[in-house]
Amino acid sequence: MEFLVDKADLHRTRFSEAPTPELQSGQALLNVSAFGLTSNNITYAMFGEAMSYWNFFPAEEGWGRVPVWGFADVAASNVAELTVGARVYGYLPPSSELVVAPVRVDARGFIDATPHRAALPAAYNGYTLSTGDPIYDADTEDAQMLLRPLFFTSYLIDDFLADSERFGAEMVVLSSASSKTSSALAFLLSRREGVDVVGLTSARSAEFTRALGVYDVVVSYDELDALPQGRAVYVDMAGDAELRSSVHNHYREDLAHSAVVGATHHDSLGAVPEALPGPRPTFFFAPDRVAKRTVDWGREGFETKLAEAWQPYVEWTESWLSVIHGQGPQAIEQTYLDLLDGRIDPATAHVLSP
Ligand SMILES: NC(=O)c1ccc[n+]([C@@H]2O[C@H](COP(=O)([O-])OP(=O)(O)OC[C@H]3O[C@@H](n4cnc5c(N)ncnc54)[C@H](OP(=O)(O)O)[C@@H]3O)[C@@H](O)[C@H]2O)c1
Repeated sequence: MEFLVDKADLHRTRFSEAPTPELQSGQALLNVSAFGLTSNNITYAMFGEAMSYWNFFPAEEGWGRVPVWGFADVAASNVAELTVGARVYGYLPPSSELVVAPVRVDARGFIDATPHRAALPAAYNGYTLSTGDPIYDADTEDAQMLLRPLFFTSYLIDDFLADSERFGAEMVVLSSASSKTSSALAFLLSRREGVDVVGLTSARSAEFTRALGVYDVVVSYDELDALPQGRAVYVDMAGDAELRSSVHNHYREDLAHSAVVGATHHDSLGAVPEALPGPRPTFFFAPDRVAKRTVDWGREGFETKLAEAWQPYVEWTESWLSVIHGQGPQAIEQTYLDLLDGRIDPATAHVLSP
C-alpha cells in the first residue's frame, strides 16, 4: 500500500498497490509498522520540490510520497549484519514497505545507500536500531514517532541560542506556539535562567498554549499590541508574512535575531520585503548545528546529551498530549487532509499504521 499525494494539488490523494519487490544483493525489506503525522509532514509536502523532500521516496510521475518518521521491522535481509526481526526508527514513506540498501551497519543502526538518496541530506538517511539507541524505550514509541524529530530541532535551536548568548535578548518570541516544535523549544527555554518565553498563537489555541505552563506570556495573533517590549529574538514556526512583519515592526531595532524554522501557516507565506525593520530573517539550518556539535562533543557525547534532555521532555508531554491511533488508508488520508487544512486540536497527535 502506498499513500500518494498529487504534487500539483496537495488536496488530491490516492492509494496504489505495488507488489513487494524482489530483493537484490545488499538490500533489505522494511515493513513499516507505524508513523507519526503532524504539520511538520505537511511542510515536507509544501516544500517537496524546493527542498527535495519528494526525492526521498520517489513515486510515479506527478505523485509524491510524503516522508514520515516512524518504526519499521526488517522483514527480509540480504545484508549479513542486519537480521530479520530487527526494529528500526527513521525516515519512511507512508507506505507499507520500503526497500533499503544498508551500509555502515553497526550496533546503532545503518545508512541507506540507495543511489537516489546519496545527494540528499545525510541526516535523513540514517536508521537507528532499537537495540542500540539511547533514546529507545518500548513504552514511548508513540512519542518517538511524533516528537523526536521536532524535539531534535528544538534542542538544536535552544542550544544555538544559548551558544549565541541569545544575541543579548531578554525574551524569545515563538510563533505557532501551540505546535509541538514550539512548545518543545519553550519547554527547553523555560529551564534556562534569564529569558522570558513569549508564545504567539491563534485565539482558538491561546488557552491550551497558556495551560502548557512553559510560556511566560501568550499573545494571540489578533492582539499583537499586547506583545511585551524589550530586546527579543523571533523564532518563526508559522512562516506567516503578515505576522512576521508585525513582529519586526513591533520590536524594530530591539529585534536581535529572526530565525526561520517552520511554515505552519502555509496559506499566508510571502517574500521578505526589503524594507522590513530589524535583522533579515535567517533560515535555521539544523544540519550545520549537528555538524558543529558532533565535532565539539563527539557523536556519542551529542547523542547522550540529547537523550538526557529528551527524558524529562517526554515525561512532560505525557501530562497534556493525547495520542490518537489510526490504521489503514482511510485513517491516513483523513488525518493528512485535516492537518493540511489546519483542522487540528493541539492537545492531540496522530500515530498511523499502514
Ligand atoms: N526546519 C526544521 O528543521 C524543522 C523541524 C521540525 C519542525 N519544523 C516546522 O515546525 C512547524 C511545526 O510543526 P509541528 O509538527 O510541531 O506542528 P503541529 O504540532 O502539528 O502544529 C499544529 C499547530 O500549527 C498551526 N497550524 C497548523 N496547520 C495550520 C494551518 N493549516 N493553518 C493555520 N495554522 C496551522 C496551529 O498553530 P497556531 O494556531 O499556534 O499557529 C496548530 O495548532 C512545521 O512547519 C514544521 O515544518 C521545522
